[in-house]
Amino acid sequence: MHFIDNLLKPGSIAVVGASREKQKLGRMVLDNIVKSGFKGKIYPINPKAKRIAGFTCHPTVSAVRQKIDLVVISIPASFVLDVVKDCVKKSVGAVIVIASGFSETGKDGLEQELKLKEVLAKKNIPLLGPNCLGIINTSAHINATFAKPTINAGNIAFLSQSGALGTAALDWAQKVGIGFSHFVSLGNKLDLSENNFIEYLNADKNVGVIGMYLEDFTDGKKFMELARTSSKPIIVLKPGKSKAAQHALGSHTGSMAQNDLIISAALEQSGVIQVETIEELFYTLMFFSWHKGEIGNKIAVITNAGGPGVVTTDEIEIKGLKLARLKSSTKKRLALTLPSSANCNNPIDVLGDALADRYAFALKTVLADRNVDAVMVLLTPQTMTDIVGTAKEIVKVTKTSKKLLISCFLGGRDVEKGREIISTSLIPGVAFPSDAVDALTNLYRYYQGKKRLSKRSSSVKSSKYAKKVNSLLEGVHGVVDTQLAERILKFYKIPLLRSHFPKDIADARRGADKVTYPIVLKLIHPKLVHKTDVKAVKLNVMNNKQLVQSYNELSLLAQRLKLEGYKMEIQPFITGTLELIIGVKYDEDTEIQVGHAKTIVKSRGFGHSLLFGMGGIYTEVFKDVSLKMIPLVDDDITDILNNTYAGIILKGERGVNYNVKKVRDVIKKINQLVHDISNLRELDINPLFACGKDVWVVDVKMFVA
Ligand code: COA
Repeated sequence: MHFIDNLLKPGSIAVVGASREKQKLGRMVLDNIVKSGFKGKIYPINPKAKRIAGFTCHPTVSAVRQKIDLVVISIPASFVLDVVKDCVKKSVGAVIVIASGFSETGKDGLEQELKLKEVLAKKNIPLLGPNCLGIINTSAHINATFAKPTINAGNIAFLSQSGALGTAALDWAQKVGIGFSHFVSLGNKLDLSENNFIEYLNADKNVGVIGMYLEDFTDGKKFMELARTSSKPIIVLKPGKSKAAQHALGSHTGSMAQNDLIISAALEQSGVIQVETIEELFYTLMFFSWHKGEIGNKIAVITNAGGPGVVTTDEIEIKGLKLARLKSSTKKRLALTLPSSANCNNPIDVLGDALADRYAFALKTVLADRNVDAVMVLLTPQTMTDIVGTAKEIVKVTKTSKKLLISCFLGGRDVEKGREIISTSLIPGVAFPSDAVDALTNLYRYYQGKKRLSKRSSSVKSSKYAKKVNSLLEGVHGVVDTQLAERILKFYKIPLLRSHFPKDIADARRGADKVTYPIVLKLIHPKLVHKTDVKAVKLNVMNNKQLVQSYNELSLLAQRLKLEGYKMEIQPFITGTLELIIGVKYDEDTEIQVGHAKTIVKSRGFGHSLLFGMGGIYTEVFKDVSLKMIPLVDDDITDILNNTYAGIILKGERGVNYNVKKVRDVIKKINQLVHDISNLRELDINPLFACGKDVWVVDVKMFVA
């Protein structure tokens, strides 16, 4: 038996806070458990009543003599700890805390919350919440929430860090005909988190797709690992891209801001589909729920109005799907039967006066075309449009084909009846073409991603330099001296621009002669992150006289900025280069302070990521960057090059050629270096010069833990 069975498949449930008053939440939970047809034992717990809803009432959990698998606690936060202690005394199987008023309210709430965990840990009792709505498992006939009692059964498992979004999904599902296997309201994720459910839901044959609304990831690396091996598609909506939204998350479930670029990369590289909006989440779940198996990207559109057909065409192409090129035999067949003014090319316009039979004919013909993977049927309500008849024909034709068919009846009240017929037949129906295209794209991307995932081997072996490099870094904390950082890069044969670190002005002259004029003179210090901002770089120094002057100016600057132990660096001055950036960052665990001196880990990070893009002083202005999680595979490197203008220019735009292979090689070597130096926290190569057939690291910063 899995420990989560106590939560999702309990044989007995006690409800603490089952009130005598029907409108109180605890009572609603009890009533929902009864109404959902739960076959196990039910124990209302309330010291003020003898019987509630026809059941014998007990004053406390431990007063129940029989075994209790699940306890749902719905009393105010300040009384929860005592009940939890009683649950430990009774050795119950699992606990759900509905009450809000914990970590989402601030430090005091957090301390309260941690006490619950500490007490439950004594007997390893899992806890869901607090600040949650409860759970639903339709196959076990349990609805232990205060959401609506009747839920459509189906194959969607939905985990939500917002109870309200969950109830909206459940309500919407009923309108459009989709159903749920499970609903789990995660709340503040004090103990159980998304990661605990992925494996469990994967093993449940009633689950077809897992949807999640997450405000933060409890353990990023673990999530990636679980998602990669998940046999069920995982669809995630993670808000918090704007500063204002991040602030709002803090007061909702106490979530801390997590880096957006990292989350997107981590999800993409683990085969998870990330969606941007609530509509996209709902419709994507609908498509995954009803369509089994892979689909191609060639889409046919049948419409009774030109405008929506063209808009849909744009959406399809912009999102990376393709408007199917119909076979000439298909076009001929269409032309033979459709009116002469109909458009027999995709998007196929069956004209405004099309009745159900014309739609049915076009649909059958297009579905039979080998060049078509899926069909979108658009309908606008015109005076003569047979909305109901067309919907019925769509249902009939769909039964004859394995291809995915999506109906989009545009409009309001007039098309409502048609939409209903479609959804009750489990055919994906959307209100607007963009909803369909988003969901279709996600379906297509998922299977493409799965194929890439199967080729992915994340086992990088330590290189022969690992031991030496780690011994050089022994005792180093924080910023690594530039010369040492450069030495480390040299081990990996990462090409560095020739440089000289002069001891004094006389040595600088010797260095400049070696490097040969014109040269660049730089002031080096761990505190100098943006050298150009403080004029710490002298470019195009032509001769000895200019060198002495630049050296003196930079020395004065170092004194003015109080840069103790500063150094100078001399490099050749090179022009006509493409300036790139390669950065590595470690996504740290998020810690929060509890009490005076204690900190706890709130969430675990995603590990190392690599960023590539346009470098130089305007990196932060242009933001032409692409990021991937490390370890990288070849496909990842191809992606980051394709996803940036820097990468596209590098491949040779307007007759200027660069050495892409060498840039790829530097990225691969950094991938290895990160694997070898596990306590590396940051590596910043900016700029990396690409010039003709050469590539050089010009500036490097390295930080270790
Ligand atoms: N053991 C058993 N029963 C207890 C009890 C205890 N220790 N303490 C109180 N009770 C009883 C009460 O007497 C009451 O029963 P009664 O109405 O028959 O007298 C019942 O439990 C409920 O307690 P009450 O104090 O009336 O609480 P409430 O129902 O008004 O509120 C919560 C409790 C949990 C609903 C409320 O505190 C809360 O947190 N609301 C927000 C919930 C939320 O939004 N969660 C997140 C969703 S996403």
